[in-house]
Amino acid sequence: MSKLDVVLGLQWGDEGKGKVVDVLTPGYKVIARFQGGPNAGHSLKFDGDGFVLHTVPSGIFRRDSMNIIGNGVVLDPVILMDEIKSIEEKAGDISGRLQISKRTQLILPTHRVLDAASEAAKGKSKIGSTLKGIGPAYMDKTGRNGLRVGDLLSKDFQKKYEALKLKHYGLLSQYDYSYDISEYESDWMRAVEEMKRFRFIDSEFVVNSYLDDDVPVLAEGAQGSMLDIDFGTYPFVTSSNTMAAGVCTGLGIAPSRVGKVMGIFKAYCTRVGSGPFPTELSDETGERLRQTGHEFGATTGRPRRCGWLDMPALKYAVMSSGVNELIMMKADVLNDFDVIKVATAYSIGGRIVDHFPYECDEVTPVYTEFKGWKKDICGVRDYDAFPQELKDYVSFIEKETRCPVRIISVGPDRKEIVLR
Ligand code: GDP
Ligand code: IMO
Ligand code: MG
Repeated sequence: MSKLDVVLGLQWGDEGKGKVVDVLTPGYKVIARFQGGPNAGHSLKFDGDGFVLHTVPSGIFRRDSMNIIGNGVVLDPVILMDEIKSIEEKAGDISGRLQISKRTQLILPTHRVLDAASEAAKGKSKIGSTLKGIGPAYMDKTGRNGLRVGDLLSKDFQKKYEALKLKHYGLLSQYDYSYDISEYESDWMRAVEEMKRFRFIDSEFVVNSYLDDDVPVLAEGAQGSMLDIDFGTYPFVTSSNTMAAGVCTGLGIAPSRVGKVMGIFKAYCTRVGSGPFPTELSDETGERLRQTGHEFGATTGRPRRCGWLDMPALKYAVMSSGVNELIMMKADVLNDFDVIKVATAYSIGGRIVDHFPYECDEVTPVYTEFKGWKKDICGVRDYDAFPQELKDYVSFIEKETRCPVRIISVGPDRKEIVLR
């Protein structure tokens, strides 16, 4: 009986989960997404091509893999079918290699409008949502109003859809917001029909029986720990559990079946959208990180906020998910920096704390400085060949987090990776 391994983001998303899952997939047979939806943008680069996946697991370009969209995901049929079209242009028919849980929640066209109306009404205090309808779709899930992929097969589907849409119209009447869903709705209905060539499965049974049969399964997270609905920087978070706990509810497996928890972080830090970001740099160093790291959203194109690595936040994420292996991304972005800083504690009301506090919007970071390596490391494939300054940086992170760094990524391509 094998255990299920997990890859998840430890910061505010965009750590490089897509790339890492693509790199690790040959070691697994099954890749399963457990939460989030098309708010995610997971970039893959190989053979001179680039792809951004939103709903489909990042194992899809490895021909031997089975990919599952889990019950914890919220799915927009239009975005899914667009994505599948572009994948199939490269990889051919994937209908035998992608399965969707019947319990996956559907994002309706009116969920997108509700998301936009709610954000517009919030004005300056908006979350900075990706406007994909994520919040409203999860609200309908917990409110027990939502529709699921399994409902698409019901003869009453159209009736259920119309009833929910009417409910949404009622909610929308409270906003001063004009909208017209007619075009998106007809795309949506078409996409729903096209989706039916994929298998809708009882994914909890499928995933558990893969594990019973010793088939290696990898769970792919979306967003990052600091966007977790319970433990992130609430209310500036997404609407799902992005931490390891989300794997159990998002795929229907028991905690005792979770194996390795691999946590991904960038060698620095980014965030897109509003909310606390203690180490954010609003100066030219922040701009330099953004330009060198091409820090623009994969889903929305928005410039990402950039700053130094935040150790209290990283340790918080490692603790909350029981991370036992770390993966450091984008080390190459720091190639030319003379000095690299890491926040190792915060000052809050004259006190120094070394944990991530509830009052995270009131903290000032206390930094430790490291000497930069000032070398191009993109061509390095062997840990021993790294400059000593980079090894010192890695050792420091391992000591602080009490967790080994097993993989270091040195460029966006599948091949630009150092495995220890
Ligand atoms: P995800 O949402 O966690 O999958 O991450 P994104 O795809 O949104 O953002 C990561 C970005 O960094 C993408 O543009 C990747 O192509 C790129 N990337 C991933 N790993 C590396 C790396 O090691 N170095 C550099 N320079 N870019 C990377
Ligand atoms: P991946 O999987 C970065 C952010 C949004 C916003 C907040 C809520 O690519 O790492 P939502 O649309 O969920 O209501 O937005 O969460 N956000 C992400 N930031 N990467 C993501 O996904 C994100 N998904 C949502 O910017 O601040
Ligand atoms: Mg992303």
